[in-house]
Amino acid sequence: MERDGAVAVIVIDNPPINAGSAGVRRGLLDAIAEVAADPGVTAAVLIGAGKTFIAGSDLREFGQPLEEPQLPAVIAAIEACPKPVVAALHGAALGGGFELALGCDARIAAPGTLVGLPEVTLGMIPGAGGTQRLPRLVGISTAIGMICEGRRVAAADALALGLVDALAEGEGAEALRAAAIAHAQALSGSKCRVADRPVPVEPAERIEAAAGAALRAGRNRPPVVEAIRAVRAAAGRPLNEALAEERAVFQRLRLETEAAARRHLFFAERESARIPGLEGVAPRRLERVGVIGAGTMGTGIAIAALDAGLPVILLERDAGALDTGMARLRDHYARRVDAGKMSAEAAGKRLAALDPATDMGALGTADLVIEAVFEDLPVKQDLFHRLDAVLAPGAVLASNTSYLDLDAIAAATGRPQDVVGLHFFSPANVMRLLEVVRGTKTAPEVLATGLALAKRLGKLPVVAGNAFGFIGNRIYAAYRRQCEFLIEEGALPAGIDAALERFGFAMGPFAVADLSGLDIAWRMRRQQAATQSLLACPAARYVEIPDRLCEAGRLGRKTGAGYYRYPPGARRGEPDPEVTALIEAASAAKGIVRRAISDDEIVIRVLLTMVNEAACLLSEGVSARASDIDLVLVNGYGFPPWEGGPLFWAGRRDPAWLGAELARLAELSGPGFRSCDTGVLATA
Ligand code: NAI
Repeated sequence: MERDGAVAVIVIDNPPINAGSAGVRRGLLDAIAEVAADPGVTAAVLIGAGKTFIAGSDLREFGQPLEEPQLPAVIAAIEACPKPVVAALHGAALGGGFELALGCDARIAAPGTLVGLPEVTLGMIPGAGGTQRLPRLVGISTAIGMICEGRRVAAADALALGLVDALAEGEGAEALRAAAIAHAQALSGSKCRVADRPVPVEPAERIEAAAGAALRAGRNRPPVVEAIRAVRAAAGRPLNEALAEERAVFQRLRLETEAAARRHLFFAERESARIPGLEGVAPRRLERVGVIGAGTMGTGIAIAALDAGLPVILLERDAGALDTGMARLRDHYARRVDAGKMSAEAAGKRLAALDPATDMGALGTADLVIEAVFEDLPVKQDLFHRLDAVLAPGAVLASNTSYLDLDAIAAATGRPQDVVGLHFFSPANVMRLLEVVRGTKTAPEVLATGLALAKRLGKLPVVAGNAFGFIGNRIYAAYRRQCEFLIEEGALPAGIDAALERFGFAMGPFAVADLSGLDIAWRMRRQQAATQSLLACPAARYVEIPDRLCEAGRLGRKTGAGYYRYPPGARRGEPDPEVTALIEAASAAKGIVRRAISDDEIVIRVLLTMVNEAACLLSEGVSARASDIDLVLVNGYGFPPWEGGPLFWAGRRDPAWLGAELARLAELSGPGFRSCDTGVLATA
């Protein structure tokens, strides 16, 4: 504790993020007791040392019994202290950090500060009064929105909303400290607790609308339901009762599966960019990016790069295709301007940083080139061969291929060490996941450059080895195949989609197939059949239903029919008796007696299939970490985050049950099914 005249300055110093650990809480209690007892002190300021206020709690604590003193006791001590306490915020004041600030008599923030209560995104609710104090400042409906989304609010908006009382003028720790001390002095010893304020009165409809929107967005998950209930209690119940109830719910939720799953994903993200052997390897220069192909993916990648402030050279094969791509990019920015999401000036700047070209020579100044042309090996090899002649020495050559052999693409160049896979997900400017594929010859600094690009673009990188479909598409292919087995055995597409959506998948596999088009996989199957590479085992079970649909011209939504039919204007596909008949005929042709398959069986078989394939990827070294696989499935394939990913799910099953069920899965899946080494799961 430091002193500035009659103001005590309590400095929280727990690097790197001043996490609100037990030690910090003890220190705060002692300091507050000192402030209360010292007749020479009239007020106190709470400030963080280093880059931030308390940026959050130590998440590791939440899976275990919490150490005393707990945060509510610290906040109670601040509120009970007869002298005002001012929170001086900079960096981030999130979760418990912001709850602590809400327990103070005033909040002063440095200009770049972020505040918020992200507990719901971690499977919990705020547990130290956040659900009671926040609505007293901003009203019930705004509090519901902020808490349920886990929204982080920037300083200027926080001031406008009343979350903070004033902004410090000027950057820097000294300016903040001085502003907070001045504010503390100006309070002249009077307390102004948030807890003493009434909850602003609002029209009931506004609250209902906020609650409804939050429930829909949060898919009725327990933390969202509980957060809404807790915030609403602020208006009707005595504060102490509501605080006790909030704490009890927090204590329960933090130990449940969802919170554990979300913590797992939180730590998995932090782990994902740490690659053994890459420590200290510097990435190459990354100031200008080339994108080849201005189709769906190329334009999305170009937007991601432009939005990150990277100038982009966009290459197409001819002027017509380039015009189409450029029109798509201009439309994209125009839509954002129209929606009020960016100024016309900012949009103009992004487009000005884009250099369209049809002559490959234009790529000579690029530090990294990402190819997003047709998924066809000879096309990509030809392109890489020609790139060799124009790219600067040391430039990184990346491919966005979904399935193709990266080493075969790299071999078309004289510099395979400079080649890396950068597998973006569609839409590439929205989806956070980026599989960074390490070819056999990829140089460490080239891999590091791929990871540096991911960071620059705000993406979540996961490193994969070079294997068919890398991590995500390989697991997805196995998953889709299993669903095809299920329809052959007796289930129907709508039943499977519904069961999996109930489990939490964003969309069932047949709805996804219809949306992306059945012809892509069909073309690939025919290519593979032609090269005999479809299945390692010629007797492997092969479901012909998707081929029959394609032959009937049912290529998915774009043709008005696929697994479902899509009458004009329909938002969702409708089950189609023609498809049912086609499926039943396919079963009959194989002599399969169709049977009723329960939702449970569907979900378990799908999950086990993912687990099995994931374990194979670990054994083969395509993925180095189980948690990476979970990240891929959750962030790229709609796996419900509250289940933590397939391997997190498997880790919470009884190993004996899992082993027996995997054996049964192999039996049901028939010849050609490759069983994993279950030993890998024990250590995953
Ligand atoms: P697309 O068909 O929309 O676009 C490909 C573009 O490449 C076309 O505009 C075409 O004119 C251009 N192109 C073809 N050959 C070229 C050449 N030699 N030089 C310059 N431009 C050329 O295809 P899409 O969907 O964007 O896919 C591109 C790549 O991204 C493929 O490898 C695909 O497997 C991969 N990918 C696709 C995803 C998706 O969801 N569509 C997701 C992840 C990867």
